[in-house]
Formats: sequence, structure tokens, C-alpha cells
Amino acid sequence: MPTLTIVVGTMYGGALDVAEQVKPLFEQAGYTVEISEQPTVEDVTQGSDLSLFCVSTTGSGDFPGNFVPFVRSLKDQSPSLTKLRYGLIALGDSSYGDTFCGAGRALDELLQDLGARRLGERLEIDAMETFMADDAALPWVEEWIDDQQLKVA
Ligand SMILES: Cc1cc2nc3c(=O)[nH]c(=O)nc-3n(C[C@H](O)[C@H](O)[C@H](O)COP(=O)(O)O)c2cc1C
Repeated sequence: MPTLTIVVGTMYGGALDVAEQVKPLFEQAGYTVEISEQPTVEDVTQGSDLSLFCVSTTGSGDFPGNFVPFVRSLKDQSPSLTKLRYGLIALGDSSYGDTFCGAGRALDELLQDLGARRLGERLEIDAMETFMADDAALPWVEEWIDDQQLKVA
């Protein structure tokens, strides 16, 4: 079975909750799913070639604490990510204005700079509009699996 890694960046657990809620959808689609709560560069270089990032924003457009070492290592090591295909779910709050989903957007740019290929559009979940992030994430993942023809079982 192919493996899908869900890479989580969270302060208060919302992004982790999204990861846990969408996990069964990928299992039904034929994947072994790993959730990485303390991501490392190896998750994206040695693990599966398909990843889903679930990342919230803190501070003023900043990465959550558990995600900071991962981003720092990516910047320091500049690994080639040309084999990596990924999806991205960014959690944020539009009341923060310009820094809305800043971490997710910055991550997206960094991954593409390193050669990774995003499949489909980035999902941005706005806490001002969506009380439970899962309500937006679950249908998006179902569509993502269909549109990108990710089903293997
Ligand atoms: C102190 C603090 C700072 C935040 N800063 C931003 C921000 O700059 N941009 C943004 O889009 N959302 C910001 N948010 C909103 C969070 O990203 C949003 O509530 C998200 O759903 C939290 O997800 P989590 O539970 O995975 O940490 C901030 C929230 C807090 C509490």
C-alpha cells in the first residue's frame, strides 16, 4: 500500500483535528496514513511521495511552534523535493488581515521553491466563516482525492 504522510503544524490542535478527521478518507482510498506531529525533513524526503500539509498560522503570519524546526531545516538544507507531490490545508482567521493564512502561504512557496509540486489548489479555512474546520476540510479532501485521481484501492 502506498503511504500518505499528513504533516501537521498546530498551536491549539485544530490542524491536528483536521488531520485525524481526514485520515480515514485516505485509508478508504487505499493509503497507509501517517500523521507527523513533530515534522522533520525526512518526512518529505524519505517518506512517501504524497503528503498533505495541515498548517495553522499564529503570531503575525508565523508558523506554529511545532513547525518552526521543520521550516528552519528545510531552509538550511534546501533538499530537492522534486519527487514530492502535496496538498495543503491552511487554517487561519481573516480578522488578522494581511497575515491571513500567512504560514500556509509561506510554506506553499517554500515547498515549490524546493521543487515540490502542489496538486490542486490550496484550501484556506477561515475561522471567521467556518466554526469547525472539519466541515470545510472533509468535503475538500473527498474532492481532492477524486479530482487528482489519488484513489489506489
Ligand atoms: C495568538 C494568535 C495569533 C494568530 N495569528 C493569525 C494570523 O496572523 N493569521 C491568521 O490567518 N490566523 C491567525 N490566527 C488564527 C489561527 O490560525 C486559527 O484560529 C487556527 O484555526 C488555529 O489553528 P490551530 O488550532 O491548529 O492552532 C491566530 C490565532 C491566535 C490565537
